[in-house]
Amino acid sequence: MSELIEEGVTAESAVETDTFVPESDIKEGEDQIHIRNLSKTYVTDESETVVLEDFSLDIRKGELITIVGPSGCGKTTILRMLAGLIQPTSGQILIGNRECTAPGADRGMVFQDFALFPWRSVRKNVEFGLEIAGLPKEERRQRADKYLKIVGLEKFADHRVHELSGGMKQRVAIARAMVTNPDVILMDEPFGALDAQTRNIMQAGLLRILEKTDQTIIFITHSVDEAVYLSDRIVVLTKRPAKIKEVIQIDWPRPRDRASVEFTALRKRILEELEKENVMD
Ligand SMILES: Nc1ncnc2c1ncn2[C@@H]1O[C@H](COP(=O)(O)OP(=O)(O)O)[C@@H](O)[C@H]1O
Ligand SMILES: [Mg+2]
Repeated sequence: MSELIEEGVTAESAVETDTFVPESDIKEGEDQIHIRNLSKTYVTDESETVVLEDFSLDIRKGELITIVGPSGCGKTTILRMLAGLIQPTSGQILIGNRECTAPGADRGMVFQDFALFPWRSVRKNVEFGLEIAGLPKEERRQRADKYLKIVGLEKFADHRVHELSGGMKQRVAIARAMVTNPDVILMDEPFGALDAQTRNIMQAGLLRILEKTDQTIIFITHSVDEAVYLSDRIVVLTKRPAKIKEVIQIDWPRPRDRASVEFTALRKRILEELEKENVMD
């Protein structure tokens, strides 16, 4: 299976020529997403959980930003608000100049559990967002096939999803998120369910895919190793309610060497920071 992934993921197609979603006039490297004074409290019959309090962060176009933090600190909550799936209790998210209050074609999503349609073929899964957008059949198929090629699954277009391995399913999910050419892709522990080897291959594959695009990626992970391997910036969060503990800019060239002195040193430092947050009080 690893061979298939390596063989297929080429990202040679010119993704940057896509114009499915009108290009925003924000240029690469400029601030694109503004998270301002965001607060979120979940209220149930039994309890109130303050997950975020006055959380602010600016994210640049074309950036791959990862968010790491202790389990339960509010990472998924932040992503779901960015997706427009849930509303903040107070504060605001701006994408471009638009306030984000509902899901939109400007954002694609990839989750840990794939969230694919098991009864559909691989191609039909990738076509889903294009169907919603009302694209004609022939164009849907062309676009889906193009992105299946990018993720190295063109030979599996007619397979059912349940016939695929975990890594392949996750590549279908990535193709499905990218096919509408969204400005932003939100990823919530997308490789968390994969074995270590497949996971490393997926990370390298993702970087190759992204070389050709200027999409902004917001990537949540509990793996510090993954964060150091992938990120332009890492946002380290405290325990709940999540606050920003540190933002780390990483300018090292890619692909990064996990065995290098600076890689292991940074990984160790972040792990130590997170361990402090996990101490019970
Ligand atoms: N729909 C919900 N209702 C009530 N509490 C929730 C809900 N979703 C998440 N929580 C609680 O909010 C906190 C943060 O959850 P989450 O954002 O999923 O954390 P993370 O992704 O960092 O592990 C957790 O304590 C979780 O139990
Ligand atoms: Mg989560």
